[in-house]
Amino acid sequence: METRIFSKRDIEEAARILKAGGLVAFPTETVYGLGGNGLDKEAARKIYAAKGRPSDNPLILHVSKMEEVYPLVESVPEKAKLLMESFWPGPLTLILKKSKIVPLESTGGLDTVALRCPDNGVTLELIERAGLPVAGPSANLSGSPSPTEASHVYHDLSGRIEGILDDGAVGIGVESTILDMSTDRPTLLRPGAITLEDLTEVLGEKPEIDPTLLGKKMEDGFIPKAPGMKYRHYAPKAEMILFCAVEEKGSEDKISKRIEEYLEEEGQEFLEEKIAILCAEESKHLYKDLAEKKDISLKILGRRDEPLSMTHNLFRTLRECDEEGIELILSEGYSEEGIGFALMNRMKKAAGQRIIAV
Ligand code: TXA
Ligand code: MG
Repeated sequence: METRIFSKRDIEEAARILKAGGLVAFPTETVYGLGGNGLDKEAARKIYAAKGRPSDNPLILHVSKMEEVYPLVESVPEKAKLLMESFWPGPLTLILKKSKIVPLESTGGLDTVALRCPDNGVTLELIERAGLPVAGPSANLSGSPSPTEASHVYHDLSGRIEGILDDGAVGIGVESTILDMSTDRPTLLRPGAITLEDLTEVLGEKPEIDPTLLGKKMEDGFIPKAPGMKYRHYAPKAEMILFCAVEEKGSEDKISKRIEEYLEEEGQEFLEEKIAILCAEESKHLYKDLAEKKDISLKILGRRDEPLSMTHNLFRTLRECDEEGIELILSEGYSEEGIGFALMNRMKKAAGQRIIAV
């Protein structure tokens, strides 16, 4: 099949394809999604096939407004309602007990469903015109980073889906926060741009945190509650090592010195390979000489004092490293406060948990 590129003007056509059981990738404020009719088990099967994703990994259903949630769930707890009112449309996915109309094929066999109202005008209109909840995992091939531009989706899925609704580069760049509201206590399953601090403020209490987000390992019997978090996540083709400071103060200097030392000592074996250093705008001067001397590609993720600029660029930069044939990525680690928790969660996954404490 030929994958068509749609613009805002083609929303009606894209909605028609969704209604007819086809697949259209759509923009959101976080990453691009791979959309199909969320109430149609055939569409769910097509989504898994197109992504090359295991079908026990549940999909998120996207709605255009809060009212559309009611038919999809058993009930909406008061606190869930409060969260929707506070953060929707926006990067927060809520897990609730599903109703009968949601097929088990969309929820990976679970009796709960993930729901989200994305903050993107074009996509809200698409969902509204299609008149159905749009099932959408991130629109990447399983094993690639989530797509933050339509060209990434095209690279991964062209020939596998009917169309891509192009609305330029996304803003946030990492996937939504997932909060399980189907249990006694709200539990954070995936960190995103709606931060723990944001959730705590609205809930009046700090949510539980899935132990695997705090570094508890699956080998030790901790299974993440969001099935998608258990799969070996995207890791760049390169070996990636994260250098994390134990304390914030003076961390930039310490990290850059440790990276240099790593290349002089443990990393000698890599010196023949293509190396990239990932750093912040504020610390790039610390790596300039080293990069020139050893022919290392210096990649600026964004500004340390604006963590959103880093989430925005992370997946694009990792794709870039793959395309350039980089074999070793040495990266600074950053503060885990606020949206830094989401940034570091994705960076640690990309590094396959290879972390050097500095
Ligand atoms: O920002 C986002 O959330 C993007 C955009 C497209 O909306 N979507 C996204 O979807 O990241 P995906 O499929 O790549 O990640 C969904 C995650 C998976 O880890 C999945 O296991 C989890 O949500 N999930 C979905 N339904 C669940 C459920 N009922 N219980 C627990 N986890 C669930
Ligand atoms: Mg994904």
